[in-house]
Amino acid sequence: MTAKILDGKAIAEQMRAEIKVETAKLKARGVTPGLGVLLVGDNPASRSYVSAKEKACTEAGMYSEEIRLPATATKAQILEVVHSFNKNPKIHGVLVQLPLPDAKMEQAVIEAIDPAKDVDGFHPVSVGKMMLGLPTYLPCTPHGVLHILKRSGYATDGAHVVVVGRSNIVGRPLVNMLSQKGELGNATVTMCHTRTKDLAKYTLQADIIVAAAGRPKTITADMVRPGAVVIDVGVNRVADPATRSGYRLVGDVDYAPVAAKVAAITPVPGGVGPMTITMLLFNTLESARRMAGG
Ligand code: GUN
Repeated sequence: MTAKILDGKAIAEQMRAEIKVETAKLKARGVTPGLGVLLVGDNPASRSYVSAKEKACTEAGMYSEEIRLPATATKAQILEVVHSFNKNPKIHGVLVQLPLPDAKMEQAVIEAIDPAKDVDGFHPVSVGKMMLGLPTYLPCTPHGVLHILKRSGYATDGAHVVVVGRSNIVGRPLVNMLSQKGELGNATVTMCHTRTKDLAKYTLQADIIVAAAGRPKTITADMVRPGAVVIDVGVNRVADPATRSGYRLVGDVDYAPVAAKVAAITPVPGGVGPMTITMLLFNTLESARRMAGG
């Protein structure tokens, strides 16, 4: 079997076109959705993510504002920027790019974001609402995974989904969202992680595998059953002297051998990545809509 390639880039473009139309409607009512982005330090991956987010905002017709602070910024300086975004009526979504140079500050910074503007969905209020199935901003990467599946025609309803990874950004919210009632959920979910014994025992039972462990070749061909659908959330840099940059991006899945066996798979890059930014636009539009009175 040769897998169908799930083209996250094409799905993202389609959704962004829809978001652009809705943004134009809101702008006609005098409200331009705005995103405030804070980047602390100069981590090259974070820099490129932040540029991509701002470019996507501009292309969708949204307003964006970026503030950069040096890696040496104090917690007080970071919180001051977050508070200024919270107060700014032109800003409907606040995003602090993670990781922060000082990981110990992260929780306090996330908790300083006004939950009404928490378009990343990382604030404990947002997480709690998600857990209860109440309306809130859903975290962008897992939400993007669910939309790839839906728009590719792979229903999660009744499916056994094995999520490999337990991060607060991807694995844990994804497990929660998949287990909820609703068109993006209704799955039977198994969560695996680095301490899971005999990972293959679980992945071999999966209709859908989501690899979000942050380690290349976490999922190899002997761990998937023919007919499975594989979503690769991993973005790992591996050394490659043949490239100009000296590295290339790979996911968590041993792509070619797995693609030769399964029904469908997302590539890296071009799979989940573009969907993350799309869902950020989606949440920012939603926030602007709410603030404009629905
Ligand atoms: N770092 C990696 N993914 C994300 C994300 O979705 N949001 C933020 N703010 N930082 C990230």
